Amino acid sequence: PAATLAATPPMGWNDWAHYQCSVDESTVVANADALVSTGLAAKGYTTVTVDDCWMASARDADGDLVADPTKFPHGMAWLGSYLHSKGLNFGIYEDAGSATCGGYPGSGQPQGGGADHFAQDAATFASWGVDYLKLDGCNVYIPSGESTEQAYHNAYSAESSALAAAGRPITFSESAPAYFQTAEWGNPTWFDVLGWVGQLGQLWREGWDIATYDSGNPTASRWSSVLSNYGYNRWISRYAHPGNWNDPDFLIAGDPGLTADESRSQVALWAMMNAPMILSSDVANLSPDALAALGNTDLIALDQDPAGRQAGVVSTNGTTDVLAKPLANGDRAVAVLNRGSGAATVSTALSSVGLPNCTATAKDLWTGATSTVSNALTATIPAHGTAIWRLTPSAGCAAAVPTGEIVGNGAK
Ligand code: GLA
Repeated sequence: PAATLAATPPMGWNDWAHYQCSVDESTVVANADALVSTGLAAKGYTTVTVDDCWMASARDADGDLVADPTKFPHGMAWLGSYLHSKGLNFGIYEDAGSATCGGYPGSGQPQGGGADHFAQDAATFASWGVDYLKLDGCNVYIPSGESTEQAYHNAYSAESSALAAAGRPITFSESAPAYFQTAEWGNPTWFDVLGWVGQLGQLWREGWDIATYDSGNPTASRWSSVLSNYGYNRWISRYAHPGNWNDPDFLIAGDPGLTADESRSQVALWAMMNAPMILSSDVANLSPDALAALGNTDLIALDQDPAGRQAGVVSTNGTTDVLAKPLANGDRAVAVLNRGSGAATVSTALSSVGLPNCTATAKDLWTGATSTVSNALTATIPAHGTAIWRLTPSAGCAAAVPTGEIVGNGAK
């Protein structure tokens, strides 16, 4: 039996949010090489995924998927070997419907019903050395008399079985929940879908696409998109645990559209939420500040903590949010987001993050400075910034507050 897939959240790169359909082999190779040369690969960013638009517009005579021969002149098996030779993993995109979101052949049933290609395509991916599959949810055929949720459940179940039979461990990223999120809370179907995806795969896109880079308008702000995706994901920590992760979509930190503080905030918030850390940017052109944030080993350690406890919301006043989570070694991570347009000084009582009557050593994960805290953590946080600490409680408190406690977890 395979080892647990995605025991910690997957990390890597995907072309979509920066390149969209202009992906090609040289783009993927250049970014893979940049993951290695920047040192990000050595820090865990190892899964390189080719998103939509990699295919030729039709299957071949045997019904097999083929890569677009102009975009990927050496083919996908070659790309898989290239990535493996660099110590990286190979991820690919497909769709649970009749066509991908970009209109390329899907693995699912044709519209009107008929044979799907889940098993055939999973075998193709295994033969190419694929390690990770993102299965999108555009154009899923809904047979009459079947609910939309049931049709998605059937399609994602079929893929899960096909991957299990493909003869190669392949991490399964499911986009199904994203097709059931609505602007309103309390959509019961969204929660139902969140309830079954973990039985079929390792991670799932729970909501909308993070804003993509627009070369025609490169200075357009993408901060509201980061806040929106964070805003949903922060409430669903109960679905995350080792081997199962909520995915609020790509890290765009350091890509055009975010300030330095906004980029740092995204990395900090994603690390608190045990989110997959999948960069979608031009890696060679990341700003030095964002590269430092993305490569901050203290933040990566929070994301990859073996306990796998997504942070909960301890408190929010609409402008500032306090998040906290217990870590495997008994430490506790605390972050404070400032959405406001000016600096904010925020004081967070240790008792409110599950450390009553305690002193703790607090490490500021941006500066590395440590201090002893006996009452409250206080920080002045820039506009759109996030303060983040790792707290090591003094011996007595660690015994008083079990590591397994969930702080502010759960339903809205
Ligand atoms: C959907 C997904 C995106 C991307 C595109 C590709 O919008 O959510 O992440 O894969 O499809 O067409």
